[in-house]
Amino acid sequence: MKLDLSIEFAGIKFKNPVFTASGTFGYGYELADLMPLERLGAIVTKTITLEPCSGNAQPRISEVTSGMLNTIGLQNMGVKAFVEGPLNNLRKIGSPVIVSVAGGSVNEYVETVKILNLYSGVSAIELNLSCPNLKKKIVCHDLPLMQEVVKSVKKVSNVPIITKLSPLVTDISKLAVTAQKAGADGITLVNTYPAMAINIKTFKPKLSTVKGGMSGACIKPMSLRCVYDAYQNVNIPILGCGGIMTGEDAIEFMLAGATIVSVGSASLVSPENLIKIIDEIERILKEKNVKSIKEIIGAANTVKNIC
Ligand SMILES: Cc1cc2nc3c(=O)[nH]c(=O)nc-3n(C[C@H](O)[C@H](O)[C@H](O)COP(=O)(O)O)c2cc1C
Repeated sequence: MKLDLSIEFAGIKFKNPVFTASGTFGYGYELADLMPLERLGAIVTKTITLEPCSGNAQPRISEVTSGMLNTIGLQNMGVKAFVEGPLNNLRKIGSPVIVSVAGGSVNEYVETVKILNLYSGVSAIELNLSCPNLKKKIVCHDLPLMQEVVKSVKKVSNVPIITKLSPLVTDISKLAVTAQKAGADGITLVNTYPAMAINIKTFKPKLSTVKGGMSGACIKPMSLRCVYDAYQNVNIPILGCGGIMTGEDAIEFMLAGATIVSVGSASLVSPENLIKIIDEIERILKEKNVKSIKEIIGAANTVKNIC
């Protein structure tokens, strides 16, 4: 039996629902010699800012039980270098490209998107409103500010806008509904969880910034809960992220309400895991006699109270 893995998200058709997660796959083309990038549903680039950013001091990564901490701090070459360099390579891959964007002000978000508008090859923008590793506050924790960013970018963008939210809130639905009302075409749930680790040999924190963002298998149940809660309250599609290590995990996210999933830490373990996840989704759903992947979205939800 043929299984249809293709899926629409924010008005765009993707060949399958497995994307890379921002910041865990570089600019997205560097691994072309190691794996068939054209098999990916889409490539989400690391977050790009208006000006180049050197990120936080080392050490910026630390392993924890069943996961990792990072405090990269949005290191990137800036949008002008990105459109002249990596974007040219990304266009040749054959998978849609989603560019993650962040800014230190509303204007920086808007100006970055205006520059991206001038170049072809960008299918959608993912607004990073949730980076936990900057000195500035997390944008989505300030609902009026988040609304202003989303509305302002939506006004100028040529492509759909996906808003990436932080899990560090009491009620993720409030943020999701705010993003929807501001005009977002989709929501990514979730970014990393603020966390820390201490070296007991030196008695010092393991990360230069003391705290960083936690990702990997250890965050899966909490991230799944965020997707489930948000799905009950919004009618824009959800891109589920956070601890997806296998095809089974990806299917759980879709049953909770995600239309698409993105995979970060598992691809840092091995980029091939992205392809394994696509193949495993296909195998499991065929065994269950599912004809189209669309059938499973939100299937584990019993209630939906669209606001
Ligand atoms: C090393 C590293 C760098 C990251 N950089 C970014 C980034 O630039 N922008 C962003 O929105 N999220 C970034 N993230 C968060 C991931 O996109 C993802 O939301 C998070 O890791 C949870 O997914 P996972 O458990 O599959 O890794 C980063 C995560 C890691 C581990």
